[in-house]
Amino acid sequence: MTILIAYATTEGQTARIAEFAADSLRAEGRDVSLLRLEAGTVPAPDPFDAAILAGSVHAGHLQPALIAFAKTQAARLNAMPSLFLQVSLAAAGEEEDEWDDLRRIAARFVEESGWTPDRVEHVAGALNFPEYNFVVAWVMRRIARSHGVEFDPHGVTEFTDWEALRTDLAEWARGIQG
Ligand SMILES: Cc1cc2nc3c(=O)[nH]c(=O)nc-3n(C[C@H](O)[C@H](O)[C@H](O)COP(=O)(O)O)c2cc1C
Repeated sequence: MTILIAYATTEGQTARIAEFAADSLRAEGRDVSLLRLEAGTVPAPDPFDAAILAGSVHAGHLQPALIAFAKTQAARLNAMPSLFLQVSLAAAGEEEDEWDDLRRIAARFVEESGWTPDRVEHVAGALNFPEYNFVVAWVMRRIARSHGVEFDPHGVTEFTDWEALRTDLAEWARGIQG
């Protein structure tokens, strides 16, 4: 029984989350294969029996590489246990309208790809200023300040709740045979 973790990342936090998911599932004795989805490529993965797909939200959208992968693998994914991890900054807060947006983005992804995950988890990401260009950094500082969060305006500030993620993963994996 192999669990595939396929993920798209723009600034790197979803990669960290995918690696963490792989480590915590391996620690429970699971066989895990990690696949990074890059722009323009839809790699054919090795055989797998359950899947976690992960991607992050930028300006209301998930990475095209993630959508393309889910589309091409939808029939296969729909026939096995699956989990979608949607990474965003809004998931770090409690603003109802922002959560409505997150749910809409996930629902649009399901509709567009034809893949219906058994479970969707919203995971808080990070602010990653070393990865931003000047304009993006300016915008992200304004957004972070308007939300009143504490952050490092030149470094990386993680909002990911690793223990909550470990619990969610373990709960999902308990439902899988083998
Ligand atoms: C240009 C840009 C736009 C973003 N837009 C959104 C957004 O619309 N909603 C949201 O909740 N988070 C948004 N974020 C936050 C990202 O989802 C968050 O930083 C996440 O950790 C990025 O994951 P990655 O490093 O794997 O790409 C945005 C970040 C950037 C840099």
